Amino acid sequence: MRRDKAVTEGITMLGRRKGYEIREGIVYLTFEGGQGRIEVMTEDIVNVFVPYEDSAHRSKAIVGEKNKHVWFEVKEGLDYLEIITERLLVRVYDRFMVDFYDREGHLLCADYRGNREFTTPISEKFVEILLAEGHEAPRDNGENYAVQVVKRMEGDECFYGLGDKTGVLNKRHYDYEMWNTDNPQAHTDAFKALYKSIPFFITLRENCVYGIFFDNTYKSYFDMGKERDGYFLFGSDAGNLDYYFIGGSNMPDVVKNYTYLTGRAPLPQLFSLGYHQSRWGYESSAEIRAVAEKYRALDIPIDTIHFDIDYMDGFRVFTWNEKEFGEPGKLVKELEKKGFKVVCIIDPGVKVDEDYYVYREGVEHDYFAKTPEGEIYVNEVWPGDAVYPDFGNPNVRQWWADKQKYLVDLGVRGVWNDMNEPASFRGELPQDVVFTDEERTSNHAAMHNVYGHLMSQATYEGLKKYDKRRPFVITRACYAGTQKYSTMWTGDNQSLWDHLRMAIPQMCNMGLSGLVYIGTDVGGFGADVTPELLSRWVQVGCFSPLFRNHSSKGSTRQEPWLFGEKTLEIYRKYIQLRYKLLPYLYDLFCETQKDGLPVLRPLVLHYEKDPECKNLNGEFLFGEDILVAPVVEQGATKKLVYLPEGTWYDYDTREKLTGGRYLIKDAPLEVCPMYVKAGSIIPNYPPMHYVGEVEVENLTLDVYPGEGTYIHYQDNGEDFAYEQGEYNAYECKLTKDETLTIRMLHKGYKKVYRYFTICYKGQKQKFEFNGESLTVWLS
Ligand code: GLC
Repeated sequence: MRRDKAVTEGITMLGRRKGYEIREGIVYLTFEGGQGRIEVMTEDIVNVFVPYEDSAHRSKAIVGEKNKHVWFEVKEGLDYLEIITERLLVRVYDRFMVDFYDREGHLLCADYRGNREFTTPISEKFVEILLAEGHEAPRDNGENYAVQVVKRMEGDECFYGLGDKTGVLNKRHYDYEMWNTDNPQAHTDAFKALYKSIPFFITLRENCVYGIFFDNTYKSYFDMGKERDGYFLFGSDAGNLDYYFIGGSNMPDVVKNYTYLTGRAPLPQLFSLGYHQSRWGYESSAEIRAVAEKYRALDIPIDTIHFDIDYMDGFRVFTWNEKEFGEPGKLVKELEKKGFKVVCIIDPGVKVDEDYYVYREGVEHDYFAKTPEGEIYVNEVWPGDAVYPDFGNPNVRQWWADKQKYLVDLGVRGVWNDMNEPASFRGELPQDVVFTDEERTSNHAAMHNVYGHLMSQATYEGLKKYDKRRPFVITRACYAGTQKYSTMWTGDNQSLWDHLRMAIPQMCNMGLSGLVYIGTDVGGFGADVTPELLSRWVQVGCFSPLFRNHSSKGSTRQEPWLFGEKTLEIYRKYIQLRYKLLPYLYDLFCETQKDGLPVLRPLVLHYEKDPECKNLNGEFLFGEDILVAPVVEQGATKKLVYLPEGTWYDYDTREKLTGGRYLIKDAPLEVCPMYVKAGSIIPNYPPMHYVGEVEVENLTLDVYPGEGTYIHYQDNGEDFAYEQGEYNAYECKLTKDETLTIRMLHKGYKKVYRYFTICYKGQKQKFEFNGESLTVWLS
């Protein structure tokens, strides 16, 4: 499909610009060889579209009307048509070359006028030799993609985003593919694709930042100046040319604008932000009970236990293995009474079995993907021969949503969607397997990258309908916008130092790509963890929005008490820290609902002008106020930390430090270097074993000298009542004269804190709160 010559020359073939007309706010452009259009979505966001396949967007990422119908005007220029918004100038030339400027006329982004300069084509003979030796065939080289946009490199561009890619934070000089891939090998920097396809990146250079979202679900390609330093490009095998130029005054603005388009992570249930334990596989209720009891006995906080595939009857989804797990739901309810919440795994592959209700229902209603000849398509997953629900069909999504009731009725509190790239053990599904795209027939090539996305949507909707609480969904495969329905983890990593190191830039880039509620398998999924690696991994896990220890069958068991007293102590310390910081984390989620900014952030997000932050792979911000610089090297007991401009406080020693410099921090195994920005107010919970164990009446505020305002939210942490105003918002204001004022900004939740304990310069003081305001003179 990639070699479709007619389309390959698509943009070039459009030829000279002829005329334009504006209909319903869209600028329709006519070229000698075809049509194109420009749509001003907001003053910062402009869509560029060529209907190669279809005249509609058919976006899976963008839900609802996002065109704000803002003011714009169109002017004929010398050899271009100019579209002017409040904040952008868009110039359209012959061949549908499009350049973007800010309103002052500074160039932001220009199409590359030359031809791609391919690297030398590889001879067939050479390919044969490589294959004979067992290497992979080299990637195609020497032809344009069916749909393709090449942009000029202006100078010192850095690139961020692109979802869950391996490798370093700044993607300049690397290339990637978007094709959801379950590759069980140890992930390396050379991987082009993992489980998620987020065709969005941010370009940053001096005095310029913008994003591009290429909304195309086919296999797509991103070359960020690897082929040639003079340009970067994105392209795909098929589909429309459909991309959004996303401007903004700074990087946070670009992220806000991107998530305005594709959606933001909704507020989760508070328990889900606690700690999770998983293992493939706990094979019986006795095993799970023992793990749960051990956590309580050892005084390690934990909220959630995950049931991997063994809880099912023969890996049939929406069934229960009664032999090993007892009466369905009994164990779930027993655990719930002790404060544990249960999350169950669900794979999309439905076992071929005439005696199995899910298979029978799907066959009866024609819900499974088919071969072009009209037979139900069969491949293999955990249960053996399996068929694939056609999630692009709204009726199938409804059916799948209704299936969630089975789990909800058992008391299950979250659903973990796995293997939804979709994975298949007998080779990848052929591109022409027939799927549905809403009302029309489609195929695997078009629907592959959105399969997990649509499955997550169905799961979210089902949980919302039957459970009524905020759905807790985890997914492995994603497309842009999946954050609206699900949290996600980075899939099957391994217990390797390389993978711990990689987790930081990987999660930072996911965050910039709208995927906010994310985590890695703490300790590593495959291979055998060492006590040291686990001790360091929990220090990253503590700050990962999804904090779950998970490991694979055949690898060392990974519960923290199996590695000696020292590891256990370190592990406990960081889980306790996580629970202490829960209100801060929850507040970050309250904010991200509104602005889409990630929880775990690369420093460059807030310090984009600081060259030192552009390539920082070994540290991150937890919200804007806490900087975390974990040790991710075996044997290291010191960490080189970069502190950006401003005043910072060492979290452990409370030492005051001036930023804009590197420092070397002593970091023995039990220490994860953390710094807090001057003027920060960090809310802390009292010790607890799980969310809901104690009612927090007394909130501690950890106050760092300086000036700042912080908003803290409080609600029932479970359902949607907050949308009807059932929440409290406390505004905490710290001024230069060392006065802290707490004021109720919004009062809608019945449980108002009775006390505030203020920690300031080593002093702790408890104050009664009258439900309205409190002023404390700190000095
Ligand atoms: C996949 C998942 C992993 C899970 C396993 C068994 O490999 O990524 O997390 O444990 O399947 O269900």
